[in-house]
Amino acid sequence: MITPQTIQQITNRIDIIDVIGEFIKLKKRGANYLGLCPFHGEKSPSFTVSPAKEIYKCFGCGKSGNTITFLMEHEKYSYVEALRWLANRYNVEIEETEVSAEVKQQQLAADSLYIINNFAQKFFTEQLQTDEGKSIALSYLEERGFNDDIIKKFQLGYNPQARNSFATAALQQQFNVEVLLKTGLVTNRYDELADNYRGRIIFPIHNNTGKIIGFGARIIGKAEKAPKYINTPENEIYVKSKILYGSYFARQHIDKNDECLLVEGYTDVISLHQAGIENVVASGGTSLTVEQLRLIKKYTNNLTIIYDGDSAGIKAALRGLDMALEESLNVKLVLIPDKEDPDSYVNKVGANAFREFVAENKKDFILFQLEVMMKEAGNDVSKKNDVVNRIAETLSKINKAEDFTKQQEYIRQCSSVLRIDETGLTTLVNKYKRDRVAKEEKKLPFEQQPPLQESGEMPPDETYLETSLLQQDELQERDVLRVLLELGLKPYKEGITIAQYIFSELEEFHIESPALEKLYELYRRQYEAGLEPGAKTLLYHEDADIRNLVVSITLFPYELSSRWDEKTETVVSVNKDTSVRDAELSVNYMKLRKIKKMFDQNQQDMEHSKSFEDQMRFIEIHKHLKKIEMDLMNHLGSVIIK
Ligand code: CTP
Ligand code: MN
Repeated sequence: MITPQTIQQITNRIDIIDVIGEFIKLKKRGANYLGLCPFHGEKSPSFTVSPAKEIYKCFGCGKSGNTITFLMEHEKYSYVEALRWLANRYNVEIEETEVSAEVKQQQLAADSLYIINNFAQKFFTEQLQTDEGKSIALSYLEERGFNDDIIKKFQLGYNPQARNSFATAALQQQFNVEVLLKTGLVTNRYDELADNYRGRIIFPIHNNTGKIIGFGARIIGKAEKAPKYINTPENEIYVKSKILYGSYFARQHIDKNDECLLVEGYTDVISLHQAGIENVVASGGTSLTVEQLRLIKKYTNNLTIIYDGDSAGIKAALRGLDMALEESLNVKLVLIPDKEDPDSYVNKVGANAFREFVAENKKDFILFQLEVMMKEAGNDVSKKNDVVNRIAETLSKINKAEDFTKQQEYIRQCSSVLRIDETGLTTLVNKYKRDRVAKEEKKLPFEQQPPLQESGEMPPDETYLETSLLQQDELQERDVLRVLLELGLKPYKEGITIAQYIFSELEEFHIESPALEKLYELYRRQYEAGLEPGAKTLLYHEDADIRNLVVSITLFPYELSSRWDEKTETVVSVNKDTSVRDAELSVNYMKLRKIKKMFDQNQQDMEHSKSFEDQMRFIEIHKHLKKIEMDLMNHLGSVIIK
């Protein structure tokens, strides 16, 4: 791990204009710099970089972030890679901490798995050229139409039929037996290591950087008794949910074509590559995971799923649809006809006809899902009602601000297919959206909740009311964090900082938004450890959620604070230090908000109470709260006119 000191050194030296200027042309415009946004096509510049805040934001597509996120998005670097790039540019020597024994162990295990896989791939490739390999495996591959170049490119191989030809070769290399077993290439049989993939064609599986993480092994000929494919078991480097077969060979093409084609199988990927269609990866026929979708999203927003018409895979893929929408991917579907799959179809009709077929038969995935469900529902009214609800829920997941027009367009099209009123569907979609917000707000910080689409239950009605209250709370809470991040280290009174003032004032109050609470606690921990936390340092925190939150809080401060500036404009010139006033306003508004909520709650309790004693008690609370509220109001008034 890179030490915090090194990170500090790097972030101290970062010059955002210098770094972003390396990739795009920036022009000075007032306090900021302006350029053409590299994240979406535009003719007039709306990409703004603020050297003072060390932040960029595009007013066209909404992308925003800091120097590190820029490198991560633009250059597809990981967090650590971005830091290394910056260290190199600013001549900072990287110090790394000793890794823990556990981490070291894991790295060692991963390293040895890579070494064994690498050896195995070479072994299997050689075996394809032996007499046995040629007559059994190579001939099979050739018969299926794979040429020498593509076999080489994908490093296909063969595991001979003998009991332990690979195992013997591996033991000669003195590989550790335990690790060897983890690769899944061998098993323990009668106290002896035996090959697991005997007599099978071997498809090495590469990660994004081209390293071999595992293998798929196909039986030669028809699979009647044994499974058609056997794959590497999960281990330190083979994590099924993160694998897209072919991504190493496809990624540049996906970037260039701004589209990712997704097929089911190994042979589909290879045949399409051979036909010159190279922006294609495979999921292995299971439902798509969020990790796989994010991998795709690094390169493009356009996902086209190409499956055979009666594949079980379609159902599996449909299950991943809502996730794809949440990731704002545009999903299209192409069904290959006549019991063919992409591999057999491209071999049958050729590359050009295949391309044309895909272009002409792309269906919108949401509308496709709607069609399927409508067919299943038939004339059954209650089933049709379910369909309306399901589609509304799906559409509610198109949630990002920039996707608003897309959502409207879907609502229009779906309501026409369903023959229902457009405003009715809009209302329903919004209801699902609100429900989810309410549910998420209610989540405790570390509580695990089942995914929404699986629970399927409807929350009770009062959640709507609560939603608006909670959202209000969040705005107040955000503002307190803004004050902490921007002003926390400034003096409040002699001997106390604004941060200390806020900690003590809010001791009795709870920050309800889990994300904000996490940031608040992080700030407090760092502060108490004698570090000097603030927007500038937390902007580069290793946790992406924290970074994004800091960007959004400092970029879009709660609008109320700008209104304070209007209200208090005349005061500003008289009273030089506005920080203290800003902090007091923020804290008091948040308290006022919480008090008002308690007040409302008490009011409700009072109305529902049955006994006289209860009512008296609620009236007491009411008086008490009223008094606190008055005090706060007075205080706020005096702060504003101070
Ligand atoms: N698969 C698997 N294990 C199986 C069957 C299938 O892992 N027992 C995965 C493989 O990744 C396979 C994909 O699901 O490539 C699709 O399966 P299928 O359509 O049956 O195979 P094809 O890819 O068409 O393989 P082939 O063309 O060689 O028949
Ligand atoms: Mn096939």
